[in-house]
Amino acid sequence: MDTQAHWDKAYTEKSDNQLSWFQEVPARSLAMIAAASSHGSVIDVGGGASRLADALLDAGYADLTVLDISQAALDRARARLGVRAAQVQWICADITRWVPDRAWDVWHDRAVFHFLIEREAQDAYIAALTAATHPGSAVILSTFAPDGPERCSGLSVQRYSPADLAQRLGAGFMLTDQAAERHVTPWGSIQSFTTAAFRRV
Ligand SMILES: C[S@@+](CC[C@H](N)C(=O)[O-])C[C@H]1O[C@@H](n2cnc3c(N)ncnc32)[C@H](O)[C@@H]1O
Repeated sequence: MDTQAHWDKAYTEKSDNQLSWFQEVPARSLAMIAAASSHGSVIDVGGGASRLADALLDAGYADLTVLDISQAALDRARARLGVRAAQVQWICADITRWVPDRAWDVWHDRAVFHFLIEREAQDAYIAALTAATHPGSAVILSTFAPDGPERCSGLSVQRYSPADLAQRLGAGFMLTDQAAERHVTPWGSIQSFTTAAFRRV
């Protein structure tokens, strides 16, 4: 099954409470985005059906974009937001093939980069990240931590510490903040996440 079909199947067959990564309130992401930029433009890469867009609209962010490979995920988020969905730009694309036509002040990714286990795909992601940001942009990445699960949604992942992420992004991105988080899945399992914030130099 290709990547898009895999994710469309997950979002079509499972409700929010059956998805391990579901969060009612994406508190860590919100805090890190607010610390990075109180009103700038934000892109949530691999945002899926996350409630981050709802929370950012509530907080007054006016220039919001959600990108995901799964149209089913984006449709779920749009349906939930109702008329407010029109305040968000929605992009259905594979981040490793996407060519951005603008730059954002904040790039946010929770649990997407870690699925890219091949160097070539990681390089393509970093090329998209570089093209979609400007010097001074904030980059907030959440991945499974070194003691986190080895798989997510049935797929292998690469696990990172903040230093690992800094090394992978390279000298063009300065580590500004980091946090270890124990995410509780809807069925009570604990997953160890790394979140790291960077400033593009
Ligand atoms: C574990 S989920 C996390 C979703 C969301 N960030 C959250 O925290 O609720 C991973 C998301 O990445 C998306 N995704 C996976 N591979 C992708 C790719 N190559 N390009 C864009 N999105 C991708 C999936 O469709 C899914 O929505």
